[in-house]
Amino acid sequence: MEHTVVVNTLVENSVHARGLLAEHGLAFHIQAGPRSLLFDTGQSGLLIRNARSLRVNLAAVEAIALSHGHNDHTGGLQVAREAAPLARLFLHPASLAPKFAGNPDNTGRPIGMDEANAEAIRAAANAVVWTSQPTELLEGIFVTGEIPRRNAFEDTGGRFFLDPACTQPDPLLDDQALFFDTQEGLVVLMGCGHAGVVNTLEYIQRLTGGRPIHAVLGGLHLLNASSERIVKTIGAFRRLEIQRLAPAHCTGLPALAQLWTAFPERCSTCAVGTRWVFPMSPRGA
Ligand SMILES: [Fe+2]
Ligand SMILES: [Fe+2]
Repeated sequence: MEHTVVVNTLVENSVHARGLLAEHGLAFHIQAGPRSLLFDTGQSGLLIRNARSLRVNLAAVEAIALSHGHNDHTGGLQVAREAAPLARLFLHPASLAPKFAGNPDNTGRPIGMDEANAEAIRAAANAVVWTSQPTELLEGIFVTGEIPRRNAFEDTGGRFFLDPACTQPDPLLDDQALFFDTQEGLVVLMGCGHAGVVNTLEYIQRLTGGRPIHAVLGGLHLLNASSERIVKTIGAFRRLEIQRLAPAHCTGLPALAQLWTAFPERCSTCAVGTRWVFPMSPRGA
């Protein structure tokens, strides 16, 4: 049966409407016909308040998928699980690893999942689906699992480590994107894009037998990117003929400016409260 997929931004770094709040983080609510899920949970518990303001019903959410372990995507997990008690969790095992960002003085600051959330996930093991591989969340809606890193010009986008002394680089194997097929082509939701957005899109195309990519929404983590990387990323978007772009969260202003200049008709914001409606493909992805 044909139906729509509605994507609502519940948490993002920006907001343009009354009654909603923003924070550094990301969370999407996806309503696919009668079924719904969350992709990421923001940093605090703000998604609950914004969901209420947007009249998004979290109680019916059947799945909570995490793009990776960073706390701006996982910090709202506890309250999201309380609001959606029947939801199964989908995450890569490496999301639970300690994670640090390197300061200029080479000390590390913790940016991973807080221990209470990690402990709750370990305790709820029978409600958890580990997503090292591509995994279907609900009918026709998938996460990629681990994304092969094939493009030399892409990296994780920052100084990320597994230890507070900043000696072991974090490859962020946990980083994954969500995707589903529509009548217009694939829609891809990015968390932070630490695997590289081009690596991510090319992998999704391989997984789907070369379906066109219609839309890319979410964090592209280009805020530390070289101009070479940004130029190559824009070239890939052009080659892949992406029709709609909503670069958000950790994309970074210089990259945002260049993307909007390169694709003025195709870019839109992804602020809290943004809503997209896609006609679902009859057979799913
Ligand atoms: Fe992030
Ligand atoms: Fe991140």
